[in-house]
Formats: sequence, structure tokens, C-alpha cells
Amino acid sequence: MVTAGHSLVKIAILQTAEDKEIVVPPARCYRSLVGTLLPLHGLSFSVAGPGRVGASLAAWLTACGGRQQTATGRTGLAELATAGQDLLLVAVPDPVLPAVAVELARRPQAAVALHTSGSLDAEVLAPLRAGGTAVGTLHPLKAFPHPLPDLEQARGVFFAVDGDPAARALAGRLAAAWDAEAAEVPAGARSLYHFAATLAAGGVVTLLAAAQEIAERLGLPPAVTRGYLELCKGAVAAAAEAHAEGQPLGAALTGPVARGDHATVERHLEALRALAPEKLPLTLELARETLHQRGRGST
Ligand SMILES: NC(=O)c1ccc[n+]([C@@H]2O[C@H](COP(=O)([O-])OP(=O)(O)OC[C@H]3O[C@@H](n4cnc5c(N)ncnc54)[C@H](OP(=O)(O)O)[C@@H]3O)[C@@H](O)[C@H]2O)c1
Repeated sequence: MVTAGHSLVKIAILQTAEDKEIVVPPARCYRSLVGTLLPLHGLSFSVAGPGRVGASLAAWLTACGGRQQTATGRTGLAELATAGQDLLLVAVPDPVLPAVAVELARRPQAAVALHTSGSLDAEVLAPLRAGGTAVGTLHPLKAFPHPLPDLEQARGVFFAVDGDPAARALAGRLAAAWDAEAAEVPAGARSLYHFAATLAAGGVVTLLAAAQEIAERLGLPPAVTRGYLELCKGAVAAAAEAHAEGQPLGAALTGPVARGDHATVERHLEALRALAPEKLPLTLELARETLHQRGRGST
């Protein structure tokens, strides 16, 4: 039961045996109360590079109570001054990051600046330190083919964090507000952390595309490719299960190489020699890696 009075709204909720009355402020006050409860309430921020990543993270910040001040790409960069704000998010393409940092450092900027590159470390923003800005990284381990403004998209995403203590602390606060996960990926690990991410995303799709190509050369219908995609989902789910149980991902490996089924492997290689000989080197390297990972998975 919900009753509204002049100054108070009374909500009665039925519990197991008795009615319990909760008194809450009127709707107007309730909205402002909700506002102050948002995890990033009042956090002021600007964006340099509101592209796919910049616009998405800006929307997630706003959804959690952040207040966006400015967002600019190339045209407004020379005027961007964010002094007095809590955060300057720098989400420009990697190749221009060093020059953008130098340009931004010509004016006083926010207390913290975070860039979203995976392969570059916090030091690329070092010029901003001279003006008192703490610098760091907030790299979302997620593909943004286009802006993804829905906050749901942030849930569970991993963020690689690095940089000055104040920057790392703010980055961790943002990730927590978004129900995401953050961990430090230090400068020395950045390049290979990023390379491994390309294996996990693009690498998997490359292998799926190769499977599709073989099916097409065999004249098989598109349903076979859909079947491969479903198979891949199942394999990824099994790997996730192994990880949740604290096992290496290799524990979830299946297939004739992992099983040691030599006869089937021989038949595969023979057929490949005839239909797609250019894929033999990849196949042999994959088999080697499968055996290596299978070994890790069984220890
Ligand atoms: N896309 C992804 O899947 C993904 C995932 C994780 C991390 N990241 C990283 O996030 C960063 C941004 O990537 P993105 O994919 O979002 O790029 P994007 O969609 O191409 O957007 C780039 C933004 O930067 C601006 N920009 C370009 N050159 C600039 C310059 N010289 N000065 C100022 N602003 C400039 C562009 O605005 P104007 O065109 O108006 O100048 C645009 O708003 C990169 O470090 C990337 O590695 C990307």
C-alpha cells in the first residue's frame, strides 16, 4: 500500500506476518536523496576525445552521478582547461596521445588525468604533472565497435590501472562504481598485457574466421559457421568454469590433439594438405601450443 500526504509519502510493505510502515520524504526530496546516494555524485569531469570509448565512459560516469563539464576532440583541444575539476579523461587514439598530453599541459588541468590506452602506460601523460595533475590509466578490456552508453555495458569489465597514487585511487573508485573490476597493470607489463588481449579477442575471431573459410571451401552451408560459433561459446564457458575453480584455462581443452588421438590428427593434416595447405604451419604451431597448455592444465 502506498499513501501520499502533504509532506510525507508513507509506504506500507507487507512482510511475512505484519504490515511494516516506512516513511520516506516526498518525491522531489526523494529524487535528490537518490542523487546524493549515487556512487560518483558530484564528481566533475571533462573528456578529451569523446569517441567510442570517451563517450561511453562519460555516459557511465554521468549515470553514476558524475557531472560532465566539457567534451572536445581536435577542434577544441587548444582551449581545453579543466582546473578545479576532479577528472580529465583522455580517450584519444594512441598515436596522438603524446602530443595531446603536451598540448593539455599548456593549461592547468583537473586533479587527475586518466587515459584509456591499453598498450601505453601512465608516463605518456607525464607533462601534466608539472601543473599538479596526478596521471594514470584506466584501460577498459572491452571492445567498443561504437559508443556503448548503457551502464549495463560496464558491469564486470576489467580495467587496467596504473600511475600516480591519486590517479590509481580514482580509477579504482570509478571501476567499483560501475560494478567492474580493476587491477594494477604496471608500465613494464603494458605491452604484453595488451598483446595477450589481442590473442583473447582478435586471435579467437581469426581462428573462427579460418574455420568459416574451410567450411566455405568445402561448400558447406552457413549453418555450419553458426555451429562453430556455438561451439566456441561452449568452449569459452568451459574455460571460464575452469578459471572460477582456480584451474589453468588449459584444463578445459578438448579435441584430438589434447586427447592424444594421433590417427584423427593425421587425417586432419592429410585433408588440409589437399584443401588448405597454407594453414599447415598455423595448425602445427597451434597443436604445439595446445600440448603445452594441456600440460599446464593437468598440473
Ligand atoms: N575502441 C576500442 O575498442 C577500445 C577499447 C579499449 C581502449 N581503447 C583505447 O581508447 C582510446 C580511444 O579509442 P577510441 O576507439 O574511442 O577512438 P575513436 O572512437 O577514434 O575516438 C577518438 C576521439 O579522439 C578525438 N581525437 C582524435 N585525434 C585527436 C587529437 N589529435 N586531439 C584531440 N582529440 C583527438 C576524436 O575527436 P575528433 O575526431 O572530433 O577530433 C574522437 O573523439 C585509445 O587509446 C584506444 O586504444 C579503445
